[in-house]
Amino acid sequence: MPLQEELEILRKEVKNYLQEIARGEALSQYEFSILGRKGKFTELAKKIAQAPAEEKPAIGKQINELKHELEEKFQVKKQEFHAQTTDADMIDVSLPGAFQQYGHLHLVTRAIEEIERIFVPLGFSRMSYNEIEWDYYAFEALNMPRWHPARDEWETFFISEDVVGPKGRVLLTPHTSSGQVREMQKRSAKGQGVRMINIAKCYRRQSDISHVPMFHQFEGLAVDRSVTMRELIGTVEYFVKNFFGKKRKVRLRPYHFRFTEPSFEIDVTCGICNAKGCQYCKDGWSEIAGAGMVHPNVLKAGGYDPKKYTGFAFGFGVERSYMMKNNLNIGDLRLLYSNDIRFLEQF
Ligand code: DAH
Repeated sequence: MPLQEELEILRKEVKNYLQEIARGEALSQYEFSILGRKGKFTELAKKIAQAPAEEKPAIGKQINELKHELEEKFQVKKQEFHAQTTDADMIDVSLPGAFQQYGHLHLVTRAIEEIERIFVPLGFSRMSYNEIEWDYYAFEALNMPRWHPARDEWETFFISEDVVGPKGRVLLTPHTSSGQVREMQKRSAKGQGVRMINIAKCYRRQSDISHVPMFHQFEGLAVDRSVTMRELIGTVEYFVKNFFGKKRKVRLRPYHFRFTEPSFEIDVTCGICNAKGCQYCKDGWSEIAGAGMVHPNVLKAGGYDPKKYTGFAFGFGVERSYMMKNNLNIGDLRLLYSNDIRFLEQF
């Protein structure tokens, strides 16, 4: 198209646009695309080079004239917009900006991430299992037959009333130990040992100031041909020093669990009184976990020959560990899951 014609089209386009435009910022954008450095005028000016030599001066002059004319029109239009702007449209750039509230992860999520970071370098892989589980994996495979009274301690939520099949009733996992035999079965079938950490939700029929029906535990399990109790103690001490701090001490107190033999409860020195004894811990120690050497019946259920394989296991409460680490005495543990932002933002 001859340059002359292009000029006329642009002149008309701009004229129509200036009549219709209703918003100041749209005008600025349009001005930019017409008169800006990479706008239509710059494009037209480049084309002068291709015009016949004798036409160049005239067409160049016309382009410049049109450009000035349009620049003036844009100015007039801008002033019109400016005159219409009321005080309410003005922005006071000296005012402080609106405060943006930062969120953060829930304290239990943070505890879970920290626990995982401590165990993974020791060779424990983080594993997950269903929260809806068979009675078999929660109890029976852990050496607690159907009639056994020890089961009462777990105050379990059963989902099905009837025994559904050889694996019993369906329930919500009352502890992370339910993952033990599942993991062993998977690994023993491949001729491998186990070294896993299971950090997960647990459910029990309990709700008072120190109990919530849904809480978290983390379970460590190691099974191999030569796993010893020394390794259990070393692993637990490593965790305690890294999670609670170097000054904290650990002790194992003989206890009884059906799924470990021997069994222990693990105590950690109290961080509030530095093991001197206070109203929270009484004698300077706080109970924090259960642990022991995996019972031969449990190894068998997992597909291992207890004459060749040994293992250790431990189970900690996540909420309890976090409270003890930070010396938090939350009056009512249920607040943790009440989703009240005023409570949660304190941590
Ligand atoms: N599952 C137990 C509980 O919920 C805790 C526990 C005790 C886990 C001993 C273990 C263990 O792995 O060896 O109270």
